Amino acid sequence: GKSGYDHFMLKEIHEQPRSLRQCLQGRVDELAGQVTLEELPSLSPTRVHLVAAGTSYHAALYGAHLLQERGIPAQPFYAHEYASFTPPGDDALVVGVSQSGETADTLAAMREAHRRGADTLAVTNTVGSTLARESDHVLYIRSGPEIGVAATKTFASQLTALNLLTLSIAAGREARDVIASLRDLPGDVQAVLDDSKAEQVASAFADSDSYFFIGRGLHFPVALEGALKLKEISYEHAEGFAAGELKHGPLALVTENTPVFALVTGDGEAARKTIGNVKEVEARGAPVVAITDGLSDVGRYADYVLPIPESHPRVAPILANVQLQLVAYHVANQLGRPIDKPRNLAKSVTVE
Ligand code: F6R
Repeated sequence: GKSGYDHFMLKEIHEQPRSLRQCLQGRVDELAGQVTLEELPSLSPTRVHLVAAGTSYHAALYGAHLLQERGIPAQPFYAHEYASFTPPGDDALVVGVSQSGETADTLAAMREAHRRGADTLAVTNTVGSTLARESDHVLYIRSGPEIGVAATKTFASQLTALNLLTLSIAAGREARDVIASLRDLPGDVQAVLDDSKAEQVASAFADSDSYFFIGRGLHFPVALEGALKLKEISYEHAEGFAAGELKHGPLALVTENTPVFALVTGDGEAARKTIGNVKEVEARGAPVVAITDGLSDVGRYADYVLPIPESHPRVAPILANVQLQLVAYHVANQLGRPIDKPRNLAKSVTVE
């Protein structure tokens, strides 16, 4: 059942501290600064292709960025495109990211990779799924069943599992810091859940023309995901943009009736540049909602702040995403949408 929540989606958002704990359980050694993924052999790929669809594609985008940061050539692909245009590279480790493990596009891409002799790895929630059975290796994200059509807790666990995968392939000097933030992640997510003003923000903006989400680097996939979640369940128009791309076109869409949700953490170069983008939209009259750890002064330019705890830059997007899940949920709820079963959508898309 829904354990007292009005919708499975809200229940699953609130389950994240537990599902993340399960994802991390027994896999991280804080003292040694090491990750052990028992189900995997030691992998040292010369390059990685990540294939996925929808929300899982956003996880793939994030995973590719993590691996690239560690110097491993990695590229994300939409599964349906990879299936019909597989780039050369039989030496690639091909990672299929799929909650259900039954998405036809992803299975087709992985079968194509397999046919070419590539080593394949499934990152999935579903034990015994077709993807798990057909792949050479499997990394389970251990979220438990997800009933809401909109993926929530499984996205958080995909990002977490891809962090673990990256640490197991190429640990690097910062491994200890990442692991410390991963250890704190379930509690930090709980803190966001306990004290979110997302419902208030949703009521302030429930009759907007469009909703925009901006982020750079590892926050970009979360900007895309925030927009996808909102459009799926609220039926409102929403778009995610790489913050630096705004001025190359999308800025033309910005008005006083298009709230802009800006993901800004840390106080480095990326934060400074995104704050520059925030000023650009503010100058066009757009309301700004900052999702931030408070380390920069982005709050000064924002109409609302949705705070998140300080965390490692690789982990902060997972926390920021929780605020965006809640915004999407509350906008849809205020519009009276059937949140757990949005029109035209299925939990698992088993046709190409
Ligand atoms: C979005 C959503 C879909 C799925 C996509 C892939 O909330 O649920 O975009 O992410 O259909 O599904 P899986 O991960 O099962 O391959």
